[in-house]
Amino acid sequence: MCGIIGILGNHEVAPALVNALQRLEYRGYDSAGIATVNHGRLDRRRAVGKLVNLSDLLVHDPLAGKAGIGHTRWATHGAPTEANAHPHCSGRVAVVHNGIIENFRALREELALAGLAHETDTDTEVIALLVRQQLDAGRTPVQAVEAVLDRLDGAFALAFLFDGEEDLLIGARKGSPLAVGHGDGEMFLGSDAIALAPLTDRITYLEEGDWVVVTRGGAEFHDETGRRVNRPVARIRVDQARVDKAGHKHFMAKEIAEQPSVLGAALAFHATPDGTALALPEAVDFTDCDRITLVACGTGHYATQVAKYWFEQLAGIPVEIDIASEFRYRQPVLSERGVGIFVSQSGETADTLAALRHVAGRVARTIGVINVPTSSIARETDVALPILAGPEISVASTKGFTAQLLVMLLIALKAGQDRGRLSAEAVTAHLATLRALPGLVAQALDREIEIEAIAAQLAEARDVLFLGRGTMFPLALEAALKLKEISYIHAEGYASGELKHGPIALIDKTMPVLVLAPRDALYDKTVSNMQEVMARQGRVVLISDRKGLEEAGQVWASLPMPTVPDLLAPIVYAIPAQLLAYHTALARGTDVDQPRNLAKSVTVE
Ligand code: G6P
Repeated sequence: MCGIIGILGNHEVAPALVNALQRLEYRGYDSAGIATVNHGRLDRRRAVGKLVNLSDLLVHDPLAGKAGIGHTRWATHGAPTEANAHPHCSGRVAVVHNGIIENFRALREELALAGLAHETDTDTEVIALLVRQQLDAGRTPVQAVEAVLDRLDGAFALAFLFDGEEDLLIGARKGSPLAVGHGDGEMFLGSDAIALAPLTDRITYLEEGDWVVVTRGGAEFHDETGRRVNRPVARIRVDQARVDKAGHKHFMAKEIAEQPSVLGAALAFHATPDGTALALPEAVDFTDCDRITLVACGTGHYATQVAKYWFEQLAGIPVEIDIASEFRYRQPVLSERGVGIFVSQSGETADTLAALRHVAGRVARTIGVINVPTSSIARETDVALPILAGPEISVASTKGFTAQLLVMLLIALKAGQDRGRLSAEAVTAHLATLRALPGLVAQALDREIEIEAIAAQLAEARDVLFLGRGTMFPLALEAALKLKEISYIHAEGYASGELKHGPIALIDKTMPVLVLAPRDALYDKTVSNMQEVMARQGRVVLISDRKGLEEAGQVWASLPMPTVPDLLAPIVYAIPAQLLAYHTALARGTDVDQPRNLAKSVTVE
């Protein structure tokens, strides 16, 4: 994880470094630091906690210089202390790192024997010590870094700065993303295009194993064998809306509210202008497909769980789903006629990216369902379908989830059509139904006041259970995840039918049980399970449409949803799940957008 930035500027770089780190805070916010070279002298400032602490420190203890590097950390090795914060320095070198050096213990021992003892608990420090050793032996910075890169196992994106060198940055990439930004007489390094967005729109991505020597005059790229290589410059357009809460108290509130327009835009983009047919790229083809493998992490994983129901129902294709971190370390049985679908909001999740690389070339094609179009997963899949949610800043994913669902529903319709299960007319009819989606989501959003009242009760609970059947089961899992993430209340999602096999033992009169049950074919079964909870005095909150609420009779609390077509229910019912978590977190006074211990983009495995 972690975000890194490097700037060779024409002006003082400290404010620009801190600005860029702000845009990288989604990668971690345990501590932050910057280093600069001023009049040949390397110096650094670091602070524990959010970036604002570093900004405060810089007001009292500024750092001058026109060349610098910066880092925002999500702790892996070593607690979030100032000593463990990056940049790590030794002798003439400072380094910032995103990733994990897996052989750091062996390197540490070797360095200790050579008289270079470690002073921090981090894996990163060995990089600084190794480079220092090389510099002390008389190597130039470039020679030193090249020699050290060969010794590092694991994943890294690195930026180096050197004492005495005001026109030099060295970057390196293996497993973690890194980009070079080209300015006018200024040059940049950054974890992604978002970090570099206000600085430049001309970007070169390092390929796996590349390292780069950056001066104000340009960048010199090398591949992992050390050979000079050319890498293309791309023009990038990154939406600047990310820093704006548009009048909302939190990014999460803004992102929840944006869903009707996001879904409308994604639907319009992936359909023909008259809205009667799908407009997906040619490569999204399931004609010969004998198996679909869906891989993701976190909220994206729950979206794939919903999509499994759709692919089976609409296309009749066998579907396998797995969490990326599990998938990559088992021996999944892949088919040459299979399609692998990789779902990731950020497009940078390390495990999902590794799973994609594992599958590439072993299935007929890979499809990415991604939000960040410049991301690694977008670039490495055969075809990347944008969910067009716009920048998602809040760590807890909301609009990303519903937009992922929508795009996967469209892919499932295409699969149904390719497999001869759905006629063109049937697809047109489904698309017509889908046009109601933004309006239905807006109606669900209108229930915010009722949701707030229920959330006030949830905020008192120690544990919360969510129940659902069919596509409402993964929705229950997602609802529980949202609540855990931002309110820190223990919550679990369960398939209603599994209640009797364990979790019913938890039920007593203090336990809120939220039941997601639209009035569909499974409603009666879910309501029977709900009765079992009520018989044991559980506090049932029923989330259903008007008919469903009427038929259920008396419950502890109810939450009315619009009446929705079955296919759209998981998307519409995501809204109360999100708003319940949001208002519960507000009632508990937690940090909604940046909950403790989490990061938006998980770039370490
Ligand atoms: C983190 C985020 C989640 C997200 C998951 C997968 O855990 O906090 O919100 O669902 O990563 O991220 P991705 O970017 O691959 O969808």
